[in-house]
Parts: sequence; C-alpha cells; structure tokens
Amino acid sequence: MPKKVAMIGTGYVGLVTGVCFASKGHDVTCVDVIPEKVEQINEGKTPIFEPGLEELLLNARKEGRLEATLDGASAIKKAELIFIAVPTPSKEDGSIDLSFIEEVSHTIGKTIRDVTDKKTVVVKSTVIPGTTEKVVGRIIEEESGKKRGIGFGLAMNPEFLKEGKAVEDFLDPDRIVIGAIDSESFNEVKALYEWAEAPILETSPTTAELIKYAANSFLAMKISFINEIANYCELLGVDVKDVAQGIGLDERISPKFLRAGAGFGGSCFPKDVAALYSHSKQLGRELILLRSTLEVNKQQPLRTVELLREEVGDLSGKTIAILGLAFKPDTDDMREAASIPIIEQLIKEGARVKATDPIAIPNAKKILSHPNINYYDKINDVLKEADALILVTEWDEYRQLSPSDLKSLMKGDVVIDGRRIWNPELFHKHGLRYRGIGLGKKKN
Ligand code: UGA
Repeated sequence: MPKKVAMIGTGYVGLVTGVCFASKGHDVTCVDVIPEKVEQINEGKTPIFEPGLEELLLNARKEGRLEATLDGASAIKKAELIFIAVPTPSKEDGSIDLSFIEEVSHTIGKTIRDVTDKKTVVVKSTVIPGTTEKVVGRIIEEESGKKRGIGFGLAMNPEFLKEGKAVEDFLDPDRIVIGAIDSESFNEVKALYEWAEAPILETSPTTAELIKYAANSFLAMKISFINEIANYCELLGVDVKDVAQGIGLDERISPKFLRAGAGFGGSCFPKDVAALYSHSKQLGRELILLRSTLEVNKQQPLRTVELLREEVGDLSGKTIAILGLAFKPDTDDMREAASIPIIEQLIKEGARVKATDPIAIPNAKKILSHPNINYYDKINDVLKEADALILVTEWDEYRQLSPSDLKSLMKGDVVIDGRRIWNPELFHKHGLRYRGIGLGKKKN
C-alpha cells in the first residue's frame, strides 16, 4: 500500500530516502528551507552529486509521486508519515547540535495540533541515544497537546548509506532498523519497506539510535586499528596489505574496511565517533576505544608528511604535488578530508603545493587557500616541477598512472602512496623512491 510521506530536510540522506521511497510507489513531499533546492528538485534535478539519483528523481517527478515545497506545514498535514532528516552538526566539543531537530519538532507539534488523523513521526537524522523520545517526542507532545502512542506515532529509522553508493545501499540494504515506541508505529514504518528483502529489526528508539552510532564507530575503529598496525608494519619491514589479507580471511574479521591509509574523513565517521564519545563522557562512562579511534585518525594523515620528510628532508621551498582532495573517490565532498591537514602541514613547513582532484577543487578552494597552494585540473600540470607527490584520494584515474610517466613528468623522484594503490616493485624498478603507508622502507 502506497503511503504519504513528508520528508523534512533534503540533504543527502533526506533526498536519497525521499526519492527512493517515491521510486517504490510512495507519495513523497520533500520539504526544505532553501528555495533553490526546492526549485531544482521540482525541475527533476538533484542538488547533490549521487550516482543513480537523478534518474530516479526524474522518473518519480514524471509519475507524479514526488514534489518539493518550502511549505512544511501543508506537507505535514497531508502526510501519514513525517520523516525528520535535518542535519545534526558537531559543536566545538564534539557533541551534536540538536537545534534543527528541535525546530522541526516544534513545527510538527504545532501543525498536528488541529489535525484529526494520527500521524507517525520518524527520525532519520543521526541523533544521540535518547533524542527521539526525550527531545522529539517531548516537544511534539508539548506543542500538539497530544500523547505519543495515542495522538501520534513515533519511531527512529537510521540510515546506512555510503556517499557515492547511497541509492544502491538504500535499494539493497543489509538490514532495516526500526526503533518504535509501539507496534503500530513500527508497522507504519515497516509498510514503507515492503519491497525490501533484508531483515527488519524491531527495537526501541534508543536502541536504533545507538545501532547507528555503534555501526559507524565500529567501522571507524576498524580503520584506525589497521592504520595503527600499518604504522607498526613500517618498523618491522612488512606490508600491512599482507597482514590485512591474512586477518581479513577470517570470516569473523572480514576484509572490508581494512584498507590502511591516510585516515577516514567525511561527514559521518569523524562526527559520529566524536558525538558518541562526547556523550559517553557526559554520562560518566568514557568509551576509551572511541577516544583512541579519533586520536589515531588525527595523526594518520600526517604520517604521509613524515614519510615525505624521511625521503626529502627539509620541506621548505620544495614543490609537492597532491593527487586527490576529496575525502574519498567519487565525491566532491571535502568534509574532514585527509588532504586538509596534509596540505596545511606542508604549507606550515614552507613547501609549495600543487593540487588536483577530478571534481573537488571548487570545494577545496573554499577551505584551503594560501598563496603557496595552486590548483590544476590536469594531472600533468601538478606533476611538472614537483619534487615529490603524495597520493591522498584513490580515484580510479590515479590508479592507471604509469611510473614511467610520473618519472618523466616530475622533477624529483619521491612518491608517497597515502592509500596504497600502486605496486611498489614497479615504482622501484622505474627508479622512483616509493613509500607507502604500512610498507617498510626498501633496503638499498
Ligand atoms: C559511512 C558509512 O560507511 C555508512 O554506512 C554510513 O551510513 C555513513 O557513513 C553515514 O553515517 O551516513 P561514508 O562516510 O559515505 O559512509 O564513507 P565510507 O565509504 O564509509 O568512507 C569513510 C572514510 O573511511 C573515507 O575517508 C574512506 O577513505 C575511509 N576508509 C574506508 C578507509 O580509510 N579505509 C577503509 O578500509 C574504508
């Protein structure tokens, strides 16, 4: 049965969720406060870069199952389910800022005061355990004069979408978690996922909130773990890739998220681990592994600069080519990208930086601007006159680069592989001084 859904917030989670629900036959109204975004969506265009999304959006528009509006109240009034998918940014101390969640809860509460039908409010944003019941539920009760479970339903339904693979992750999920206050709320949300073959977990809202944080924290911890092992491998003269393969074949460990490199970035892992850590401290039960996960990740990008220094010595006056700026391939997202601390450190040490990225340069320019940083669209242009290069983001096109081309284009011969995408032997054979995260130095 198609459901009527209001999706409040058309960021990457809200838009992907809204469009995918519409593609499965539900009637979705996306709500945002930015007029340009609303216009774009109504024109069938996506305001974000996400493979496969525009096609689904265009189709949903054509079939009349998706529209966008600035008018939150009217969208809420006609919906059976109201999703909250607004940002939960980090504060200075790592804790999350719930002001958007609170604002939307006030609007929902006020709007449902006079409606007669029972609506279900679903939190999709990543929020600290307890938020759905203690913040969202409480505000809506106060504003609407209605009791949860009687006047409105309440649930938390976390997302597990990777940027660049969000549509795929949504349409073919590993699991669906629905944390609901009662079985009626659970069944309402479940009805949206009739098409999915994945297991559906019924939990409390607080459990669902923690599942989201614990999943991201675990994956981030796995990356920091292999990065620590990588740094240790360098001292032993062994290759972390061999170690990762050796442990990853153990089904209990799995090879996924065991790629050592310059650390994790993006809008999720750094923020979510910090938020959960900060909350645990507030509750007086500090999650020590999370503190270590963040500490390792803070130093990891700079490991590339250390490797560089070991080869080049003093960096002052040296020209360093940076390949890749985005926090991972196939996105222009620069949030918490490893390239930021790496480039800042190079500049601090007096180096000149020539940087390239297939799509993230405009976003990088907003964050990294200095007379000694220059951006180029073409790889050849960054390599020219470079004393050394650091590979920061493993874009496919960088994998194809041949060591002989690098050798002929660069002034120097030092290559630092921050994501371990190249074959060290091949690079050594071509006379390049290749160093990689988690690889012992080659003995001459
Ligand atoms: C992450 C999770 O993977 C999603 O499941 C989750 O839904 C999402 O956060 C979210 O909370 O919204 P995302 O941030 O898009 O997704 O990116 P990932 O592909 O997970 O990569 C995160 C970072 O880890 C990147 O900087 C990547 O380079 C790094 N990484 C990943 C490694 O350094 N090594 C690995 O083995 C894997």
